[in-house]
Amino acid sequence: MHTQLLKLDPDNPDLEVLHKAALILNQGGLVAIPTETVYGLAANIFDPSAVAKIYTAKGRPGNNPLIVHVYSVEQAKSLVLNWNDTAQKLAEAFWPGPFTMVLDKKDLVPDCVTAGASSVALRIPKLFVTRKLIEIAGVPLAAPSANISGAISPTTASHVLKDLDGRIEMILDAGPASGGIESTVLDIRSNPPTLLRPGLVTVQMIEKIIGPIKQFQQQHLQSGAFPSPGMMARHYAPKTPVINVENSGIEMLEKLKKEGLKVRLLGFHKIEDAICLPENPVGYASALYAALHDLDAMGLDRIVIALPPNTPQWLAIRDRLNRAATPAD
Ligand code: TXA
Ligand code: MG
Repeated sequence: MHTQLLKLDPDNPDLEVLHKAALILNQGGLVAIPTETVYGLAANIFDPSAVAKIYTAKGRPGNNPLIVHVYSVEQAKSLVLNWNDTAQKLAEAFWPGPFTMVLDKKDLVPDCVTAGASSVALRIPKLFVTRKLIEIAGVPLAAPSANISGAISPTTASHVLKDLDGRIEMILDAGPASGGIESTVLDIRSNPPTLLRPGLVTVQMIEKIIGPIKQFQQQHLQSGAFPSPGMMARHYAPKTPVINVENSGIEMLEKLKKEGLKVRLLGFHKIEDAICLPENPVGYASALYAALHDLDAMGLDRIVIALPPNTPQWLAIRDRLNRAATPAD
């Protein structure tokens, strides 16, 4: 299959290009789409064979449900059973934006989208071009991150091309994703709601709107009870082995170099053999995956990562970095 790569202005998109993409989606094809978090791999949720192609193209385990992208609160409400006060408040506070809510689904949402679950994960993306495409397509779009399952999520069209060239019909290139890490996922069916995946909408921001929430504990995963299968420990991982350290990482870098290994540091110091990232979570998130893609392409023996502080603002970043360092089984 030939993969078309088309450029788009994120704020003032060429409607002809969007209509071409919508046609592919309406005919059961796959289009990689820009969003403000990471690039997504989109299909029409009402076309089970198109949804099945997402799993094939990504090599995604069939038990991992997809996020459904909608362009309005009305469209979100049309897919769920119990749109309540909590959902309304969260939508008003965080949509459009990097925030996903899990609610009970209506029967019209096909089981293949939710991997058989009775719930569905929904979000309204922030980029105008993404919302416009959903509106023109006229259907909600299932879209996981547009990468091979388990690998680093793409924040540019060229990251998508690297993983999915020849496997999908089209990639829409609207420039680098500014957010840089995947949306926050909150299950609002439980009382209090449960955080399933931390993201740029932080626990503090959510609790300001709806009061205390539960944070899903990693140790529950050992019991095999996956409230969100995407929470598998190894995820978002480079192929190169990653070593995380709770300090500047400089000592570890020097030690491994002395052992004759080819190694680079991802940290907060401008030194040789290091990529230096911003010391604030928003700036760091925006640059993280591009840095990991670059490091992974260098043919290194190890990547050393200097973890940011273990504080609430860095929760989502540390979550992704800890997953990146979990060895493949
Ligand atoms: O920022 C994002 O959310 C990106 C962009 C493309 O929108 N999408 C994304 O999708 O990260 P994906 O498929 O890579 O991650 C979806 C996450 C997984 O952790 C999955 O398990 C969880 O959402 N999820 C989806 N539906 C769910 C459901 N019904 N119940 C619980 N978790 C669900
Ligand atoms: Mg993903």
